[in-house]
Parts: sequence; C-alpha cells; structure tokens
Amino acid sequence: MTRYAHITGWGMSVPAHILTNDDLAKMVDTSDEWIQSMTGIRERHIAGARESTASLAIDAAVKALSVAGVPARHIGLIVVATSLPEYLFPSTACIVQDQLGASHAAAFDLLAACSGFVYALSVASQMIISGAYESALVIGSETLSRMIDWSDRSTCVLFGDGAGAVVLQSSETPGGILSIALHADGSGGDMLIVPAGGSHLPTSLETIEDNQHSIVMNGREVYRFATRAMVSSTLEVVEKAGLSLDDIRLIIPHQANRRIIESAAKDLELPMDRFAMNLDRYGNTSAASIPIALCEAIDAGRIHTGDHIVMVAFGAGMTWGSSVIKWVAAGPRKASRFVWAQRLMARARSTARRTGRRIGGLIWGE
Ligand code: ACO
Repeated sequence: MTRYAHITGWGMSVPAHILTNDDLAKMVDTSDEWIQSMTGIRERHIAGARESTASLAIDAAVKALSVAGVPARHIGLIVVATSLPEYLFPSTACIVQDQLGASHAAAFDLLAACSGFVYALSVASQMIISGAYESALVIGSETLSRMIDWSDRSTCVLFGDGAGAVVLQSSETPGGILSIALHADGSGGDMLIVPAGGSHLPTSLETIEDNQHSIVMNGREVYRFATRAMVSSTLEVVEKAGLSLDDIRLIIPHQANRRIIESAAKDLELPMDRFAMNLDRYGNTSAASIPIALCEAIDAGRIHTGDHIVMVAFGAGMTWGSSVIKWVAAGPRKASRFVWAQRLMARARSTARRTGRRIGGLIWGE
C-alpha cells in the first residue's frame, strides 16, 4: 500500500497588538516610507505579556485540529518549528502536547530558523509516508520580538510574532506532500545569528550589557543568499515532483521581504499573482510565515482541490528548503467547537496529573 501525507487541517494565531511603521518611527530613526519601499512591510503583530511561543502555537493547533475534525488524542506526532522556544527545555512541543491533551503523541522542537516550517513538514510527512505515524501536527510558532534589539533600526523593523499549524494525515489517495528539497550551508552561520545565550557564550552580565542576546544580521548578504536560494529551491522541488512551473497554482514563499519575492518571481519568469503575499501585515514571522500565509490563501479561496502549490523558505543556518503539495482537502471550513471542549478537558487532565504527582511526592517522600 502506498501512503501519502495530506494536509487536512490548518490554523493560525497572531497577537492582538499591532505595531505600525509609524509607531517604529517614534522609537528609532526610520520612516514608513523607508520600511515600505525597502521591505514591503506596513505593520506587524507583537506578543503581549500573556502571549508566548507556546500559547500562540496552541491556539493555532487547536484551530487546525478543529478544521481537520481530529481529536488531539489521535495525533501521533507534534513537531514545533521555532527559533525562540518557550524554554531551552522542556520543548515547546511538549507544552503543546500537554495543553492539547495529545496523550499519545511524541513531541519535539525543530530549529531551522525561517526554514523551520518546511523542514518540520518534511520530517513529519516522511514519518507518515514511512508508516511510523498516522497523523501529525506541524506548527511554526515565533515570538522574535523578544530577541530583537529595539534600538537597531536595521533589524527591528523586519520581524513580527505569530503561529501557524497544519494537521497531516495518512491516506491512500495520491497527493499531499509530493516532493521535498532541504539544504543547509553552515559556513554562512554568522550572517544571521543570536550570539549569546547558548553553550558557546552562556548568559552572563557581560553578554547582557553587550546586548549579545539579540538578532545580528548582515542584511545585504542574507538578501543575496535569499534571492538565489528561493529560485534554485523552487526549480529543484518542482522537478523532483515531476512537474513544471506551469503546473504550480500558487507559490507560498517565506515572507521576509517583498523585494526578495519580486526578484525570485522575475528570475522564475512568473507573475507576482502566483505568489502568496501577506508580509505587509505581519512582517517576517520566521517559521510561522508560511503556515500563516497558507491559512490566508485558503480563506481567500486561492487554493482548490487538485492544485499544486510550492512552499519555499530560507533562514538562518543558513538553511533553505521547499516542498510541492498536491492539495486534496476541501476549501475553507468552519472550525468545530468540539475541539475547544477537548482543550478544556486537556487542561483539567494536565492539572490532575500535576496534582497527582505532587501528592505522590508527598506520600512517597514521607
Ligand atoms: N530605516 C531607515 N534607514 C535604514 C534602516 C531603517 N529601518 N535600516 C537601515 N537603514 C539605512 C542604513 O543605515 C544604511 O544607511 P547608510 O547608507 O547611511 O549607511 C542604508 O539604510 C542602507 O542599509 P543596508 O543595510 O545596506 O540596506 P539594504 O539595501 O541591504 O536593505 C534590508 C536592508 C531591507 C534589511 C535588506 O538587506 C534585506 O531585506 N535583507 C534580507 C533580510 C532578511 O530577509 N532577513 C531575514 C532572514 S530569515 C531568518 O532566518 C530570520
């Protein structure tokens, strides 16, 4: 039996607070005109005190499960792609697993920066195609606003927060994830880096005083790399799927910079209306940008059953990757309320398990 991995549910979540270019112009020496003309970004969503990588991931995941009509306990695998996890450990995926009540799921985080969602989708789809799992939740969730130096105008205007999730399910129907192409070049690691906070340079008074916990980027180099990677990766993955660019209905690129996408479109000789674009409203949400753009493209009626779509991303590492998907899910669907009820049950279950563990500790401790 040949198995295929289909996207059957999708959901997104962004913080309520919006930071406009004009707001930024009050914080650093920049302007709406510069940001829009150089990047295409108008505004971005920024996480508030009660929002985090895990909370956004959970919200997006609940919506995706609801659209798929799959109870969380039926999910076999949860992969969260993120550049800023809730903690170094436990993984954000384990927090999601607990809060959703996905009691049978394996869970882990994956770090490939802005390419993270495409990497995670590739890993999870191969797990399904191999027969190891029947279903998976793949989430891209980011709160990069918490790693930004808000006095550095060259980076603080670029990023935003948000999450997107998809449910993958096994099926005998041909389609779903048809091909993947993942690449990395670690020699470019210093082009986009958060220098401190890891094993190499642990957090210390000095690293904080020297502001080494924020994103440091060589914008020009990243730009040059990105324009090449988007084109080569798209051509490679389409060829791997045995298709041509004419067969592709929509390309969902990582939403970093409008000019990067325009340059890729020009090199691929495709019109801009074949690309999903929403970076004007969200900025660069890193691993969340592709699933958020996917959700909006579905809601806008831009993806239909039988369509071939390409997801293509690049990010720190350097990493880049792409995937061709033959879409078989029905169009926009209403989320069911049932999943929210399950979410409440999961929270109750989690609290009961914690309490049980505490009581057990007291009894056995004595
Ligand atoms: N407002 C006003 N002026 C600015 C700003 C700003 N926000 N930022 C930089 N400038 C100035 C610079 O100081 C410089 O001024 P100078 O000429 O007086 O020195 C001038 O604009 C040009 O600066 P550059 O950095 O050389 O501008 P560039 O043409 O490279 O554009 C940009 C900058 C938009 C960031 C571009 O390099 C880019 O988009 N690079 C790709 C970035 C990207 O995609 N990053 C995400 C990667 S994905 C991930 O994994 C996180």
